[in-house]
Amino acid sequence: MKKQGESRSSVFRRSFRKEFPVAVRGEGVYVWDSAGNKYLDLAGSAAVNLIGHGVPEISAAMTEQAGKLEFVHTSQFTTPIAEEYAEELLAFAGKHFEGGAVYFTCGGSESVETALKLARQYQVEIGQSQRHQILSRHQSYHGSTLGALSVSGNKRRREIYLPMVREFPHIGMPYCYRCAFDCRECQW
Ligand SMILES: Cc1ncc(COP(=O)(O)O)c(C=O)c1O
Repeated sequence: MKKQGESRSSVFRRSFRKEFPVAVRGEGVYVWDSAGNKYLDLAGSAAVNLIGHGVPEISAAMTEQAGKLEFVHTSQFTTPIAEEYAEELLAFAGKHFEGGAVYFTCGGSESVETALKLARQYQVEIGQSQRHQILSRHQSYHGSTLGALSVSGNKRRREIYLPMVREFPHIGMPYCYRCAFDCRECQW
């Protein structure tokens, strides 16, 4: 591994102005870097890691599964572990998801892309092919891919890509403290 300042990193980084600490270990809410500094990860990675770092049960389950079967494509197979996890997830999600089904993806952006396509396909299949609009909130973030970006509302993040994305309508945020409509009727 190249040391800091030795030469340019081979990893394409999020910022060229900043030096990134080299994370080497995680445990619960803490992360350690290669210099031995300990960080309290209050952000939960990108704000979505609820399970903490270095959970032994998770690495054990990953090792066990990877030893048996690491990957098959969903166009060809299902697996016992996918079936079991989908059932568990639906039970956890509660009664509104009873009788539902889970579509697995690798991350948030891919989930949003899939949801957009699924919503459209559903309308086409039920004979409502004129329906194609997606509503989202101003300032919302739905991911880094172009489809997710097209429905995201964050002006600055989408600005330079506007010629490449489809524009959808956005609606205001439910933020009565600084109401965009000046309605003065909200109870907050
Ligand atoms: C609501 C929402 N949608 C999509 C994403 C994108 O997820 P990912 O970074 O896994 O692609 C995020 C990520 O924080 C998110 O909060």
